[in-house]
Amino acid sequence: MSDRLDLETDVLIIGSGIAGASAALEASRAGLRVLVLNKSPQLEESNTYYAQGGIVALGVDDAPDLFVGDILESGDHTSDPRAAEVLASEGQEMVDRILIRELAIPFTRSSPAALDYAQEAGHSRRRILHVKDTTGRTIEERFLAALAKRKTVTLLADHTAVDLLTIPHHAKSPVAYYRAPRCLGAYIMDNTTRKVRAVFAPVTILATGGCGAVYLYTTNPDGAIGDGYAMALRAGARIVNMEYVQFHPTSLYHRDSDGFLISETVRGEGARLETRDGRAFMDKYSPQGDLAPRDEVTRAIYEEMIATNSSFVFLNLASYAKTDIRKRFPNIYRTCRGYGIDITREPIPVVPAAHYSCGGVLVDEWGQTTLPGLTAVGEVSCTGVHGANRLASTSLLEGLVWGTRAGRRIVERFEPGIPYKRSEIHPWYYPRREEEIDLALIQQDWRTIRSTLWNYAGIIRTRKRLERAQADLEYLLHRIEKFYREAQMDAKIVGLRNGILVALMIARAALSNPVSRGAHFRKD
Ligand code: FAD
Ligand code: SIN
Repeated sequence: MSDRLDLETDVLIIGSGIAGASAALEASRAGLRVLVLNKSPQLEESNTYYAQGGIVALGVDDAPDLFVGDILESGDHTSDPRAAEVLASEGQEMVDRILIRELAIPFTRSSPAALDYAQEAGHSRRRILHVKDTTGRTIEERFLAALAKRKTVTLLADHTAVDLLTIPHHAKSPVAYYRAPRCLGAYIMDNTTRKVRAVFAPVTILATGGCGAVYLYTTNPDGAIGDGYAMALRAGARIVNMEYVQFHPTSLYHRDSDGFLISETVRGEGARLETRDGRAFMDKYSPQGDLAPRDEVTRAIYEEMIATNSSFVFLNLASYAKTDIRKRFPNIYRTCRGYGIDITREPIPVVPAAHYSCGGVLVDEWGQTTLPGLTAVGEVSCTGVHGANRLASTSLLEGLVWGTRAGRRIVERFEPGIPYKRSEIHPWYYPRREEEIDLALIQQDWRTIRSTLWNYAGIIRTRKRLERAQADLEYLLHRIEKFYREAQMDAKIVGLRNGILVALMIARAALSNPVSRGAHFRKD
C-alpha cells in the first residue's frame, strides 16, 4: 500500500463488484471519502464481471406485483415480501437512472426504439435487460470508469481485507468489553508486500460477494470463497440461510472448462435439456418444462444423470433456437467453439454447478447488519429477497438497489470519526515467520473442502452425509487454524482460513435444517 494512503477514511468498502461500486458511487455524491478494495490484482475481477443473462427491469405488460409474485414463487415462499417489494418498486428507477442514463450501459435493443427483454426461468414475463451475453462485464467496466473519475474515491486493487476491526475484540483495554460491540474498519493486507495495516472508518461496507468456489464444481471465479461471511462471523454479525446454496443447472461439461456458464437465457431462447440419447425430459418434472425454477431443473438433471449413468446431459440450442445464435450469444458461441463445440450445430454437454449463495450476513432494507458500523450489500448479504432459491437475474439488481440505498443512508446519517482514539486499538499483530507457506498443504486442504461440500452438502443432502461433512470439516478447521498461526502471512492462507469457516457454516446450517425447501434438498 502506498505510504501516502490515509489510514482513515469515511467509508471503507470491501469489494468492487456491482454492490460495492453502487454504494461507492452514491456515498461519493455527497463528497465522502471512500476507499474501495479488491483483493484481486484486477479491479474488475468479481462475480459481477462474469454475469451473462442480465438484470431484471420491468418489461412490456409487466408490473412490480407480478415481479414480486415470481420472486416469492421461486423462493418457495421463504423470501421476505417486504424486501421483494423494495427490489421490485425501486429497481426499475435505478436501472433507468444509474445504468442507462448515468453509466450509458448499451443494453441490447430489439429495434432502434425498443430494448430487448430476455426470458429466464421462473419469470412470468420477458423482463431481463442484457448486453448480449456479457452483461456483467459491461456494467462492471462502466462502474469502475465512473468511480475512477470521482476525486474522493480511491480504488485499491491487490489488497485483501484480513479481518474486520471491532470493539471489543481489538481494543487494548479490557474495559471495552462493557461497551456495545462496533465495527471500526478493517485490517487490510498489501498482497505484494504482505504488510497489514488498520484502516479506520465510521462505516465499513462488506461487498465481498459469494462463495461458490468453496465447491468442487462452480460457475464462480476462484476468488469467490466467501471471505466476507467468515470475517462477519468472527466479528459477531448475524448470518442466516447458509444452507441455501443455489446450483446453476447448466455449466459446460468439458475436461478443460472451469465451470463456464451456459446462461439460462439460452433456454429462454428455446433451448431444451435432453438426455445423451436425445430425449427431452423437463416436461416430466415440471409444468413449466425447461423454464422451471432453477432448483427443480438442477434436481431433474441430477436424476437423469443417475438414471442414464451419465456425467452430463445435453442442452440443445441448435435444434430449437428462436434467435440468431451467434449474434445473441457471441461469448458462449466463441467459448464453446474454443472447446471444439459448435453450438449452432450440436448440443452442448452441461452439468449443474454451485452458483449463488442465497443466505448471508443478515441486513435490513438499508443494508445495516446486526453489528453497528457494519453494512453489507450484494451477494454476501441476506436481504430476504431470495429466500431458499433466487429468481434468475435478480442479484445484479439487488446489488444495485441495496448498494445505492446503503450509500444514501450512510450519507444521510453520517457522523465523521470513530468513537475511539486510534491509540486505544491494537495495531495489527502477527508473529513474524520466516518459513514460506507450503503450497502443497494449501492445495490439498482446498481439495478436501471442495470435494467434501460437493459430495456431502451438494444438490441432494442426507443427514448422514452432512454429519460426515461437519465432522471432517471441523477436524480440518482445527488443523487450518494451527497452520494459519504458524505460517507466514499471505493471501493464500487468509483465503484458506476463511474457506474452511464458510464450508462449515454451510454444512452446519444444512444439517440443522431437516426441511427441504428451494435449493436445500434433504433426502434422509
Ligand atoms: P462480486 O461481484 O462478486 O464482487 C465481490 C468483490 O469483493 C470482488 O471484487 C472480490 O474480489 C472482492 N473481495 C472478496 N473478498 C475480499 C477481501 N477479503 N478483500 C478485498 N476484496 C475482496 N446475476 C444476475 O443478476 N444476472 C446474471 O446474469 C448473472 N450471471 C452470473 C453468471 C456467473 C458466471 C456468475 C458466477 C454469477 C452470475 N450472477 C448473475 C450472480 C451475480 O453475478 C452476483 O451475485 C453478483 O455479481 C454479486 O455482486 P457483488 O457485488 O455482491 O459481488
Ligand atoms: C444466467 O445467465 O443463467 C445466470 C443468471 C443468474 O444467475 O441470475
